[in-house]
Amino acid sequence: MKMIAVSNYDEMSRRAAELVVAQVQKKATTLLGLATGGTPVGTYALMAEAQRRGEVTYAQCRSVNLDEYLGLAPENPASYRYFMQDKLFNHIDILPENTHLPNGTNQDAVAECARYDALVDSLAPIDLQILGMGHNGHIAFNEPDDHFVAGTHLVDLGAATIDANQRFFDRREDVPCQAYTMGMGPILQAEQVLLLVSGDEKAEILHQSLTGPITPQVPGSILQLHRNLTVIADAAALSKFSVGSF
Ligand code: F6R
Repeated sequence: MKMIAVSNYDEMSRRAAELVVAQVQKKATTLLGLATGGTPVGTYALMAEAQRRGEVTYAQCRSVNLDEYLGLAPENPASYRYFMQDKLFNHIDILPENTHLPNGTNQDAVAECARYDALVDSLAPIDLQILGMGHNGHIAFNEPDDHFVAGTHLVDLGAATIDANQRFFDRREDVPCQAYTMGMGPILQAEQVLLLVSGDEKAEILHQSLTGPITPQVPGSILQLHRNLTVIADAAALSKFSVGSF
């Protein structure tokens, strides 16, 4: 594991964007694994800026996202498809047909999970997977559980996750209580994982994930097994690590 300790969110975003841009410069057809949420928003803005400056093109890139809420159509501003369009895809030259998310409107979970697994398999391995981490240690929407799941699955979102994501909705009761999520398989098989963590409210779970036992109760702990994990975390998120840990 490589740890990049930075001072704040903006520096985290800058360092992350530099790594993504370097990856795409090295391999034009990079398969990007993308996350939603507040954490990668700054990174996405800087990825777009790098293209505007002529430093990079995403025209041959492909992308697969981690998750999507069940029941939300792409036009719904709270859907993850809408988020990705708004925060990244509308601002870069990636081709729309090369961007993929689970289809939240498919109520047939067996069919949708099989479709997304087949799609990800056909594109894999992910060259660079961007991850955030939930307050309960979830990565993608792999919530704390008694076992790890490898493939795409429909998950019941825990109360902590619904509380945390309420900020993207008008009312708490509008937050869907289920979502499709990629499982741990493609994440562990990614050539490189970039875990971004910012803020003191993530400090305890980040420390547990990286130094505690590997357990599905702390889903992010599985990243300890990844052969090419880079963590970019700010001082607040690293506050539970003792000086000189890395
Ligand atoms: C998003 C995702 C989640 C988020 C996590 C952190 O696609 O898979 O695991 O990365 O919930 O969210 P933020 O960044 O909003 O704190």
